[in-house]
Amino acid sequence: MTDLIESKAWQALKEHYESIKDVHMRDMFADDPQRFEEFSASLNDILLDYSKNRVNKETMSHLFALARQGHVEEWRDNMFAGEAINSTEDRCVLHSALRNRSGKPVRVNGRNVMPKVKAVLAHMRDFSEQVRSGEWRGYNGARIKSIVNIGIGGSDLGPHVVCEAMKPFAQRGLKAYFVSNADATHLVETLKQVEPESTLFVIASKTFTTQETMLNAYSARKWFMDLVGNEKAIEKHFVAVTTNIELAEKFGINEANTFEFWDWVGGRYSLWSSVGLTIALYLGMDHFEALLEGAYDMDQHFKKAPLEKNIPVILALLGIWYNNFFDAQSHAIMPYSQYLERLPDYLQQLDMESNGKTIDRNGHRVNYLTGPIIWGQSGTNGQHAFFQLLHQGTKPVPADFLIPALSQNPLGLHHRVLFSNCLAQTKALMLGKKYAEAVDEMTHQGFDKETIEEVIQHKVFDGNKPTNTIIFERLTPKTLGSILAMYEHKVFVQGVIWNINSFDQWGVEYGKVLAGQIQKDLSKPGDVDNHDASTNGLINYRKRVYFDEIEKCGVD
Ligand code: F6P
Repeated sequence: MTDLIESKAWQALKEHYESIKDVHMRDMFADDPQRFEEFSASLNDILLDYSKNRVNKETMSHLFALARQGHVEEWRDNMFAGEAINSTEDRCVLHSALRNRSGKPVRVNGRNVMPKVKAVLAHMRDFSEQVRSGEWRGYNGARIKSIVNIGIGGSDLGPHVVCEAMKPFAQRGLKAYFVSNADATHLVETLKQVEPESTLFVIASKTFTTQETMLNAYSARKWFMDLVGNEKAIEKHFVAVTTNIELAEKFGINEANTFEFWDWVGGRYSLWSSVGLTIALYLGMDHFEALLEGAYDMDQHFKKAPLEKNIPVILALLGIWYNNFFDAQSHAIMPYSQYLERLPDYLQQLDMESNGKTIDRNGHRVNYLTGPIIWGQSGTNGQHAFFQLLHQGTKPVPADFLIPALSQNPLGLHHRVLFSNCLAQTKALMLGKKYAEAVDEMTHQGFDKETIEEVIQHKVFDGNKPTNTIIFERLTPKTLGSILAMYEHKVFVQGVIWNINSFDQWGVEYGKVLAGQIQKDLSKPGDVDNHDASTNGLINYRKRVYFDEIEKCGVD
């Protein structure tokens, strides 16, 4: 492949950038009353308005040419067909099979995986219905009231974002908790809220080797045994979700209580697999399947819609436009929905673990920016925290604003206020405020000329800050499924164009190895000198200064 930045489509974009970089969106809107219709795309109840972007028709056609040059459609088809596109791990990438509602086979190495997928879904349905109906009881006959999901990364963030977002669909009297951090505080504070006889622990780990998860799982088991003292009771209170049935068995969870998935499902793409067990338990299997339906709809859209109307493709290309031509370092996610509060956290892993790469598919260091820093917070809270920087800071921050047209909680004027704030922010970011407008405003407010002159520069807003608005009817399981799949495909398209493997995460492994070495050194008596001076200093400082305290605890 030719060097991306030397390629025809890239060069055309670079040249085009020079002609558009100083054009204000305010003028683009004034010149084209059809902008909203022209720069929008939809699927079911989801509407993407991307008219508040620094693009015109020519920009978009150059961007679509970039996608075609990068063979996005071929890569997409190869992914859905089960090709081993995760080249560094020699794996196919088939989370789409988990939500394949077509009745058609999906093959991995020539074998149709759909019967296995369906068998696990049936197992999840059977088990979740037993728990929810009260047929499944704790060791002493108590009903299950608390589900504690123990997992980290994809085994936590996916089920967590969904359970939080779908609270209105949860069964009354059932609570879902998520424990992920190695900091014991996370587990300890959660256990304070539950009773052993009515708690079900879901140990979710693709590998069943992740240190944090195993630490929390064994500590939860000990807590349970200390209180209940009956080894046999474990099977009523601990279930596993994993690709590693053997290790789950070693932990003491029998196969009947283990929910399988497969290595062709990446951790950060696993919420559609049995990793969604906590979702099924909390919301019910029908809602979990509605989530799958929504994702399937987005898969079909991604597969079939022309690039020009393809929502994930459009989002991906706009992201590349700002990342690579405007040097935007980050991308903000602003859900105007309290239920979507955890969406930025979830998308951080999805995007940054996927596209935080420097080496391309050919093993060469890239000479262009890849994945952005993803961050954000729910609106309107973010407005009172960091929006100042978006409006008047020195850094460009493209952002997605997501909002339901209708609230799950219609209460007085709340949703109208929320909705108007969302639109007001994207409007202000786009329009800005000109010098003359700011002067007029202050004059009307009765300020004298001298005061106006003193502060006027602070009241001017450049505007021209790009945003996407994603509006949907209501936050339902189906719509949420579509939104999450939309972002998965967006990240995929960007990875293809940047020519990186979005499906491995070697960077994360390095820290894990070092943590193991440091842990050993912390347990040895005396000073260490086998690290760099800073690391030695910090290890030795903790040992020297807190030696007595650590000794007193016995454990640490
Ligand atoms: O952080 C690295 C990672 O491997 C993620 O990709 C994954 O989601 C997470 O750890 C948890 O892994 P597991 O599900 O195997 O415990």
